[in-house]
Amino acid sequence: MQSRVALVTGAGSGIGAGIAQELAELGHRVAVVDRNLDGAREVAARIGEAGGQAVAVACDVSDPASVSAAVEEVRTAFGPVEILVNNAGFAKDNHPLDMPLEDWDAVQGTLLRGAFLMLKATAPAMRDAGWGRIVNISSISAIVQGERINYVAAKAGVEGLTRGAALDLAPHGITVNAVGPGTVQTGMTVVSAARAGRTMEEHLEVVRESIPVGRIGTPHDIARAVLFFAAEDADFVTGQVIYVSGYPHG
Ligand SMILES: NC(=O)c1ccc[n+]([C@@H]2O[C@H](COP(=O)([O-])OP(=O)(O)OC[C@H]3O[C@@H](n4cnc5c(N)ncnc54)[C@H](O)[C@@H]3O)[C@@H](O)[C@H]2O)c1
Repeated sequence: MQSRVALVTGAGSGIGAGIAQELAELGHRVAVVDRNLDGAREVAARIGEAGGQAVAVACDVSDPASVSAAVEEVRTAFGPVEILVNNAGFAKDNHPLDMPLEDWDAVQGTLLRGAFLMLKATAPAMRDAGWGRIVNISSISAIVQGERINYVAAKAGVEGLTRGAALDLAPHGITVNAVGPGTVQTGMTVVSAARAGRTMEEHLEVVRESIPVGRIGTPHDIARAVLFFAAEDADFVTGQVIYVSGYPHG
């Protein structure tokens, strides 16, 4: 299998950390990119201890200068990015009528603008090489979910970006796809449980009961789908969204 240079945003914890670890297990050199550099360093160190190659890079994906600097740091360490996973994200949930503009902007800034900025910074080298893989982390919330229109709109936007970029980048050997997780226990679940006024155990039980396959997701479930899209022989699949949620969405 060919070793590629992979960049995973928001890889300092949760789903992104799992994706970074599994890309490294396949022999890819992985940039663990996060605005939380301590988290990124921990994940990169774990990958190194397991025999993989990883570098931790600090970056706020909503900031163009920070994105350019991070992509350059990765190029210097490993070479041009060949696999990009846009995973960084967070939620700032509220009823639409109570949602401050700052919370709308903040969520769009990281989820949607961040994915666009990362694509802009990495796709030129993929085009020049005639090969690239971009996988965007969406969410089942892209379809609909209450009291989080900033997040719903951003994730629906990520899916639109996925289809649009897939069409425009296809002639250059670059595929663009998305994975839409259902509930996965991470830092985001802590926030969701607190907002629902439940303990983590109560929250996970309520959510678990609503999932037909009968369990909560893991970062590994999501990484499996990302690795499929990132594979060398997945070049006939582009502009697609796979929901990985234990539920038949779509
Ligand atoms: N956990 C779930 O149930 C769930 C469900 C659907 C989709 N998702 C999506 O999965 C992705 C990962 O979330 P998670 O659940 O692992 O949460 P998490 O909080 O564990 O990880 C998110 C990471 O993104 C980083 N981050 C946030 N904003 C950033 C920015 N501007 N620049 C760089 N890094 C930034 C955080 O520091 C954190 O390390 C997100 O896009 C989220 O929307 C999660």
